Amino acid sequence: MTQMKLRIFYFAIIFMLICEIKPQVSDESEFLVDRSQTGLTHVPKDLSLKTTTLNISQNYISEIQSSDILSLSKLRILMLSHNKIQYLDISVFKFNRELEHLDLSHNKLRKISCHPTVNFKHLDLSFNAFDDLPICKEFGNLAQLKFLGLSATQLRKSSVQPVAHLNISEVLLVLGDSYGEEEESDSLRYFNTRSLHVVFPTKKEFRFILDVSVSTAVNLELSNIRCVLPDDECHFLDVLSKLHKTPRLSKLTLNNIETSWSIFIAIIQIGWHIKMEYFSISNVKLQGHLGFRKFDYSNTSLKALSIQQVVSDVFSFPQSNIYSIFSNMKIQNFTVSATHMLHMLCPSQISPFLYLDFSNNLLTDIIFKNCTTLTALKTLSLKMNQLKELANIILMTKEMKSLQQLDISQNSLRYNEDENTCSWTKSLLSLNMSSNTLTDSVFRCLPPKVKILDLHNNRITNIPKNVTHLQALQELNIAFNSLTDLPGCGTFSSLSALIIDHNSMSHPSADFFQSCQKIRSMRAGNNPFLCTCELREFIKNIDQVSSEVAQDWPDSYKCDYPESSKGVLLKDFHVSPLSCNTTLLILTVVTTMLVLAATVTFLCHYFDLPWYLRMMCQWTQTRHRARNICLEELQGTLQFHAFISYSGHDSAWVKNELLPNLEKENLQICLHERNFVPGKSILENIINCIEKSYKSIFVLSPNFIQSEWCHYELYFAHHNLFHGHFDNLILILLEFIPQYSIPSSYHKLKALMAQRTYLEWPAEKSKHGLFWANLRAAININLMNQVKEINHT
Ligand SMILES: *[C@@H]1O[C@H](CO)[C@@H](O)[C@H](O)[C@H]1NC(C)=O
Ligand SMILES: *[C@@H]1O[C@H](CO)[C@@H](O)[C@H](O)[C@H]1NC(C)=O
Ligand SMILES: *[C@@H]1O[C@H](CO)[C@@H](O)[C@H](O)[C@H]1NC(C)=O
Ligand SMILES: *[C@@H]1O[C@H](CO)[C@@H](O)[C@H](O)[C@H]1NC(C)=O
Ligand SMILES: *[C@@H]1O[C@H](CO)[C@@H](O)[C@H](O)[C@H]1NC(C)=O
Ligand SMILES: *[C@@H]1O[C@H](CO)[C@@H](O)[C@H](O)[C@H]1NC(C)=O
Ligand SMILES: *[C@@H]1O[C@H](CO)[C@@H](O)[C@H](O)[C@H]1NC(C)=O
Repeated sequence: MTQMKLRIFYFAIIFMLICEIKPQVSDESEFLVDRSQTGLTHVPKDLSLKTTTLNISQNYISEIQSSDILSLSKLRILMLSHNKIQYLDISVFKFNRELEHLDLSHNKLRKISCHPTVNFKHLDLSFNAFDDLPICKEFGNLAQLKFLGLSATQLRKSSVQPVAHLNISEVLLVLGDSYGEEEESDSLRYFNTRSLHVVFPTKKEFRFILDVSVSTAVNLELSNIRCVLPDDECHFLDVLSKLHKTPRLSKLTLNNIETSWSIFIAIIQIGWHIKMEYFSISNVKLQGHLGFRKFDYSNTSLKALSIQQVVSDVFSFPQSNIYSIFSNMKIQNFTVSATHMLHMLCPSQISPFLYLDFSNNLLTDIIFKNCTTLTALKTLSLKMNQLKELANIILMTKEMKSLQQLDISQNSLRYNEDENTCSWTKSLLSLNMSSNTLTDSVFRCLPPKVKILDLHNNRITNIPKNVTHLQALQELNIAFNSLTDLPGCGTFSSLSALIIDHNSMSHPSADFFQSCQKIRSMRAGNNPFLCTCELREFIKNIDQVSSEVAQDWPDSYKCDYPESSKGVLLKDFHVSPLSCNTTLLILTVVTTMLVLAATVTFLCHYFDLPWYLRMMCQWTQTRHRARNICLEELQGTLQFHAFISYSGHDSAWVKNELLPNLEKENLQICLHERNFVPGKSILENIINCIEKSYKSIFVLSPNFIQSEWCHYELYFAHHNLFHGHFDNLILILLEFIPQYSIPSSYHKLKALMAQRTYLEWPAEKSKHGLFWANLRAAININLMNQVKEINHT
């Protein structure tokens, strides 16, 4: 008992050791503790000394003291955002020499006490309640500083000065709601940063002027721009205008704008002339109306304009005013996405557009109808719109001589093949028509040089055999349709990637891999596979190519039918080759039978199998009978094991073979001439012998039949032997007796011969052993009256 306890104790210790060692082994330098969103009101005391990252954000912690984190000497990252801290003394971190990432955003910080020791790379004090910028003089020593998050309600040049000489990658400045227009408007110019993100007060009209033209900035992001006043009171346009002075600016991002249509267009117009390449506007809420407005397209360095997520009041003005401004922009990339745009005009002159993304709008089939000016366009996305007839889209591309990529996925496209001549632009290389309502007919008209074709999630049931040859097609995605078989590669001679999962293939044809020699990647899982013989070849083939090619093998391939194998992985589905091949089955059965027959014939011929069988049979019968005889009863009267009757012609065999073989086993044999009782007739002597013997052995031969049988007939008749003790009789057939040579009066003998209830003397010496054994077994019995007495009398 105690030993048992001891063992458990050891196991526990070993287990603990393993658990303890594990984190160290897996990553010695990282030890992350996440106690975020756990309702903490204080920094927890039970932290491991190894902690390198501590996440206690989104709690109710209101202060942080030196003693809280003093012992965490390995701490590198401390996340304290979304708490209730009001005051920060930087000296609390003086013992955390490794600390480089401190996130105190979204707290209630009003004051900060400075201390020179720490070396932050990432310091986030944004979204707090500071009045002045929380920049200590000591921050000037943070040579590693990459990110600085700040918040303030007033800006002063002198506040920025301490960090003006640092090269900070990113500065986030959040202006509090009470930020006012009387501020020193050029205070930000002293920041030395690549990226500046200014978050203006929410829900506050943009009446102030702030110079955001930081000379080092490459990326500038401005969030929360609210200008719903009469246009001339919105000072944001003035703020934008000052950006002409930013020599390095490459990308301007405006977020979260609420304004009028006219100010919105004015913003784009100003942006158009700012010296930068990328202009991105997102999350816009617009109101009012727009009259006709001339847009100055001259002198822009813009390459890409992106307008995303625009909601607008009900349009009360001709939208073509907007569309005509957009369509004639002379830039490469233009995105208008997730707006409620209904239409887009064809550019009036040859357009430099290379890339147009009009996804997630309300565009209809008439877009760019008969448009001949988009000749440079390479990529067009009309994903998630209201397109209906593929024929219209095919016609649309006709004049887009450079179009290489077209995405018209997630519309309601169908294709009626009779309607149209197939006029896809020949330049098209990649076509995405996924998530529409296209049927088999879509294969009647496809761009001839297309390399990538996405048709997943449509209503295709079959790929017609006589489709136009798509010799360039390399990638075909046809998942989530209702196909019943793999396509051959006759029509797609270059196919190297095929996705055909989630279809209705029950027994895909196995010759796919022969037909598609160039296949390098395929996914064909999640089909309702019918696990029968026909599938074996397919399984074999896919198992061979498996991991490199079939990327979802084996886990996505399961039997769907029959019920008994439902859910079994194809990999584990086995059926014997025999049960699948009828010819093979018949051949095997026939062969087996032939071999069996040949063996039997051979055995019969060379080893006289029937003889052995008969001997064995008699042996068993004898055994069986011997068991049933009431031995005691017999043993009382018997003196001999057997009486032997034979013809004088066979006496040589009896003397030389039979007697020696029986008597050497101590069997007592009665011969009527040897055990002769004087004064009795021969017949009486014979009868005497028979009565005292357990068995009577008759050595049958033609001689015996001719000469001796009559004696016994007489005796048998006399004693009714055949009816009573029929078992006593053992017939040895020494020589073959033809049936006809037995006189017809010997009914019994004929019957016995016919039943073959005799022991046959084998000619071959090899069989003699079994013969003697059989005979001895038949007559062997323990005799009580010892025969010796008789011998003596
Ligand atoms: C810290 O926890 C917050 C809240 O659960 C989570 O949003 C944030 O991703 C976590 N930060 C890290 C670095 O795990
Ligand atoms: C600031 O550092 C970045 C690399 O971190 C470098 O590319 C850039 O030129 C530096 N700017 C100044 C003004 O030193
Ligand atoms: C465009 O630039 C040219 C020369 O660079 C200048 O002459 C012209 O006035 C500019 N146009 C506008 C509208 O700024
Ligand atoms: C235009 O958009 C394409 C696709 O997003 C992009 O690969 C390309 O770099 C963009 N070009 C410019 C000048 O922004
Ligand atoms: C498009 O052009 C064809 C002739 O090329 C003309 O019949 C058809 O009216 C035009 N459609 C539109 C909408 O301009
Ligand atoms: C086709 O568009 C769908 C979304 O509409 C996208 O998931 C899929 O990746 C696109 N296919 C290709 C080949 O780009
Ligand atoms: C393809 O065969 C179908 C009938 O099977 C026929 O209606 C159609 O016109 C044929 N299309 C081509 C392009 O041969």
